[in-house]
Amino acid sequence: MGADPLADELREALGPEHVLVDRDVVAGYETDWTGRWTGTARFVVRPGSTSEVSRVMAACGERGVPVVVQGGNTGLVGGSVPRPGSSWREAAVVLSALRLSELGEVDAGAMQVTAGSGVTLAAWRGHARHADLDTPVDFASRDSATVGGAIATNAGGSRVVRFGTMRSQVAGIEAVLADGSVIGSLAGLPKETVGLHWPSVLAGSEGTLGVITAARLRLAPWFRQVATAMVATADIDAAVSLLARLRGELTCLDSIEIVLPEALELVAAHLSATPPVSGGGAYVLVECADHRDPVDELVAVLDGSDEVLDSAMSTDGPGRNRLIQFRDRITESIAASGVPLKLDVAVPPAALGELVHAARRTVDGVGGRLIAFGHLAEGNMHLNVLEPGNIGRITESVLATASRLGGTISAEHGIGLAKTPWLHLARSSAELSAAAAVRSALDPRGILNPGVLAPL
Ligand code: MLT
Ligand code: ZN
Repeated sequence: MGADPLADELREALGPEHVLVDRDVVAGYETDWTGRWTGTARFVVRPGSTSEVSRVMAACGERGVPVVVQGGNTGLVGGSVPRPGSSWREAAVVLSALRLSELGEVDAGAMQVTAGSGVTLAAWRGHARHADLDTPVDFASRDSATVGGAIATNAGGSRVVRFGTMRSQVAGIEAVLADGSVIGSLAGLPKETVGLHWPSVLAGSEGTLGVITAARLRLAPWFRQVATAMVATADIDAAVSLLARLRGELTCLDSIEIVLPEALELVAAHLSATPPVSGGGAYVLVECADHRDPVDELVAVLDGSDEVLDSAMSTDGPGRNRLIQFRDRITESIAASGVPLKLDVAVPPAALGELVHAARRTVDGVGGRLIAFGHLAEGNMHLNVLEPGNIGRITESVLATASRLGGTISAEHGIGLAKTPWLHLARSSAELSAAAAVRSALDPRGILNPGVLAPL
């Protein structure tokens, strides 16, 4: 790499060790976790404070240099790695948020804590539990995924049925805009009506409106008594009727996930383990968590449900983990089998059967191996296709079907680069114009995550 005045200026601002220009080191930030999305970065910066982020943005903003923010690099839609095809000089600077990793003191009365955007979900949870509280959001990539990335994509995970998505957990936010100015508040006031609410504006904005530097996050009670059951049902429709029963009758329902047989077989082979239940057309993993032992409540509902063909239950840590791994480690087992096409969609739960049926027909027609699992209560199905015969055709068909069934083209992974061409299936042209107007008002030179959420 030749002389780069921008890198020189940022070395001065951040310290030379936090401006990474070595191509071998930079390569670690250029490809996403799945291996499907890859690009070229000009270099990587690792600011350690809000004021350093502000200096990075001011320097890039002045020169019109694009910036891609990256947390734990667990994104699945190409939204946090640089764009392909550009030479390093035209390429984006990758802003790694990982040094923004400060965690404040837990305020137990408010049930809140302030976290830097580079704090991992696991660290957030560990910190909350130290104060006898818990995090309302959890998902499998917890050890690497960051708070900032989870807010930027409005991530969901397994506890949405009880606590809502990441958006609902953000009581305050701090962010740096494209020109380096800092906005937001970390006061965490649950009640405040003063015009635009920055957490709502920034959650789900995928790094296109500002760089999230910290958030005031809600916490949840830590329910130490947990019962986990894996249940076999005849098919997806039976799983959906079980969902209605569990939601109606259980006060302690904490998560309810769905795994289809091909996904169960794949993860079982990957783990060299025998699934605890078999013979189903769809499997449901349900967790009940409470301050009191929830077992009797869960057993009573499962025993009274015709939908349950077979079930296995555990309440102790190792036993529960043995059940949970058949859900939590599916993503890893897919990655071990190849580079998948990942389609994260949601439909009303009653339409899940039709969605999967249509996806299977399409994949069978063009070739590929459909691995499906997801979050039952939100009708959120992760349709993964290994060795996809025709990526464009499968994507088009699945996203159009989700939209036709009253659903959405992205439930929790975001739009990124992957789904930008299909935004019209989820938003009207008036909505897309309004969103573009907001974006260009905050970022007139279009330097924040170009190509994400709008075509380049
Ligand atoms: C999950 O629910 O496990 C995540 O969304 C990851 C994935 O879809 O692969
Ligand atoms: Zn998921």
